[in-house]
Amino acid sequence: MAVTAVETSALLAAARRQPVPHTPVWFMRQAGRYLPEYRAVRERHTLLEICATPELAAEVTLQPVRRLGVDAAILFADILLPLVPMGLDLAFVNGEGPVIRNPVRGAADVAHLAPVDVRDALAPVLETVRRVRRQLDDDTPLIGFAGAPFTVACYAIEGGSSRHFVTAKRLMYEAPATWHELMRRLVTVLGDYLAAQVEAGAQALQLFDSWAGALSPDDYSRYVAPYSRQLFDRLRSLGVPLIHFGVETGSLLELMRDAGGDVIGVDWRIPLDAARARIGVHHAVQGNLDPVALFAPLAELRGKVRDVLRRAGDDAGHIFNLGHGVLPATPVDHVRAVVDLVHELTA
Ligand code: CP3
Repeated sequence: MAVTAVETSALLAAARRQPVPHTPVWFMRQAGRYLPEYRAVRERHTLLEICATPELAAEVTLQPVRRLGVDAAILFADILLPLVPMGLDLAFVNGEGPVIRNPVRGAADVAHLAPVDVRDALAPVLETVRRVRRQLDDDTPLIGFAGAPFTVACYAIEGGSSRHFVTAKRLMYEAPATWHELMRRLVTVLGDYLAAQVEAGAQALQLFDSWAGALSPDDYSRYVAPYSRQLFDRLRSLGVPLIHFGVETGSLLELMRDAGGDVIGVDWRIPLDAARARIGVHHAVQGNLDPVALFAPLAELRGKVRDVLRRAGDDAGHIFNLGHGVLPATPVDHVRAVVDLVHELTA
């Protein structure tokens, strides 16, 4: 297992609330269209081609590490990949995002989902993990990830991105047995997938429950938390730090913490000190600069970075990040400036 980086990585230390040489920083969607070197690869390959070609996916994973000096790499893949071997027909349509042509709409669709042998069906992703690990130094861990069962279920049911998740929530309310069966199947596949990532060399895991904030606390507790908890309970035995992330989760922070994870991701709508007070001293936090702050003039941006660090406080257990992913038009030099400033101010 990944023991080498444990002593030297600021990110792994912070995730365990141990003392750090400086506050670690990485960015969700740090690989992506704001980087010219990523766009150069994307001109010749689709997103799914990159994910299916370990050589390309490893290269794209490493681009932001070289360019930005971040404290972690995140595997280049997508949360929707495990749906493909389950039998869903996934495409990324330019300008529209993900589209699933045969979404899950009822009990028969759930019953027809295929069991997945992740080592076989997701072999290219696992090979990417192995390749990236060989090219990273001990200070820079590789973060593996998956979508949380709820967020992945939303795409499987809606068939794409959604604003109000009407189709997914209707299924949850109208056919709870079908919903629960879908969530059970996702817990199995996602758990197998994340365990295989760690086996291949991932040193931390992030579970993206990006759209959990669309739920009331009561619905989150009834329809989602039990499955996230089952997944986290299984992942705990892997021995790597677990990050639990969602957007607009101000009303769910305690429930998400209780569902699992060593580190709780916080978005910019909640001041980090208030979030820390609610999450408590037994968890680390990750966040929470507004991704749009990266578009601000540097002086203003620096003030916002200082504010996040001040609110994070002096206690161990803060991983600097955005509250959500880097946006496509973000100025690269501003992203780099944030990394340098976080390191400088916390060294
Ligand atoms: O650098 C990284 O963060 C690693 C790679 C990564 C991607 N997707 C590649 C990608 C990660 C961690 C994800 C997670 C992901 N995918 C999430 C959770 C994070 C979040 O943003 O909330 C979600 C909801 C998805 C599903 C998804 N993938 C959507 C909705 C889209 C289209 C919208 C968009 O941003 O274009 C994607 C496409 C996608 N996945 C891109 C990348 C880099 C877009 C770039 C491209 O088309 O080349």
